[in-house]
Amino acid sequence: MKGIVLENKILNDKYGIICIKSDEFAQNAAPGQFLMIRPQPYDYIYDPLLRRPLGICDINEKKGTFSLLYMIVGKGTKLLSKIKKKTELSFSEPLGTGFNLTTDKKVAIIGGGVGIAPMTFLSKILHENNEVDVFYGGAEEKDILLTHIFEEYSNNLIIATEDGSIGHKGFITEVFENSLKFNNYDKIFACGPKPMLKAVYDIIDIEKIEFEVSLEERMACGIGACLGCIISTIGTDPNSNSQKRCCVEGPVFNGKEIIWETVCKE
Ligand SMILES: Cc1cc2nc3c(=O)[nH]c(=O)nc-3n(C[C@H](O)[C@H](O)[C@H](O)COP(=O)(O)OP(=O)(O)OC[C@H]3O[C@@H](n4cnc5c(N)ncnc54)[C@H](O)[C@@H]3O)c2cc1C
Ligand code: FES
Repeated sequence: MKGIVLENKILNDKYGIICIKSDEFAQNAAPGQFLMIRPQPYDYIYDPLLRRPLGICDINEKKGTFSLLYMIVGKGTKLLSKIKKKTELSFSEPLGTGFNLTTDKKVAIIGGGVGIAPMTFLSKILHENNEVDVFYGGAEEKDILLTHIFEEYSNNLIIATEDGSIGHKGFITEVFENSLKFNNYDKIFACGPKPMLKAVYDIIDIEKIEFEVSLEERMACGIGACLGCIISTIGTDPNSNSQKRCCVEGPVFNGKEIIWETVCKE
């Protein structure tokens, strides 16, 4: 697919957000899905060779636009941060398996760092039919972005930073654990660093609360062909692990099925 960049805004020295016009993409994307994008203005430049996976941060179906929140970490995202308005970019259709949406439930969304990116889209959709609390953690104030979206599309927004520069001081998982004394959530949706996801898994009563996580494994093809994004899950055969492709069967998985020791080993 191709789309025209309407805006590419640098939010601070770590993050940017890019808004792209593509009716076809905007009409077909679901929360939790991702795309593979070439961070170059010309399709014939294959440097970097591989397209980069990014979660879908926001969709405006009426305007036919979508947004991607990116953290500038390496070559691809640096190039993306330099893309100018009106540039035509090339990207895949919406990929992967997204979140299973709920209705009439009390849910918590937990996002850490740039893992918050797919949660804005999710929060917007869930807020239509559910009570939604958002727990958003980062290392410092710079990591806390797009709060106006969560303020509009959640019942409560709770923020924590490790250095205490904004919100509670400490890990968002600590604040979340504390909140469980007062709240009975039906379902938890989480995306962020793997140790954060594992901490949530350890905190909740996994037999009673539904738990879906979005995993950001390294990806090469994004379409299930290279087997570069395999994760281990509990298979139907209790004696063997089931290997799943994060880009096709995920990136959203039932947190109960993941073998966390293998996912968190890096
Ligand atoms: C399904 C999915 C959704 C994602 N959504 C987002 C998003 O919405 N916003 C966002 O900023 N990033 C997201 N990521 C991560 C993003 O794809 C990588 O940060 C990006 O590909 C890095 O490209 P680069 O060329 O800038 O860095 P590279 O030069 O390729 O690498 C720079 C550094 O980033 C690390 N890195 C690369 N890929 C990943 C990864 N997948 N996970 C953790 N570390 C990585 C490398 O180890 C290296 O240390 C997502 C990844 C996946 C798989
Ligand atoms: S990235 Fe190639 S199979 Fe998942």
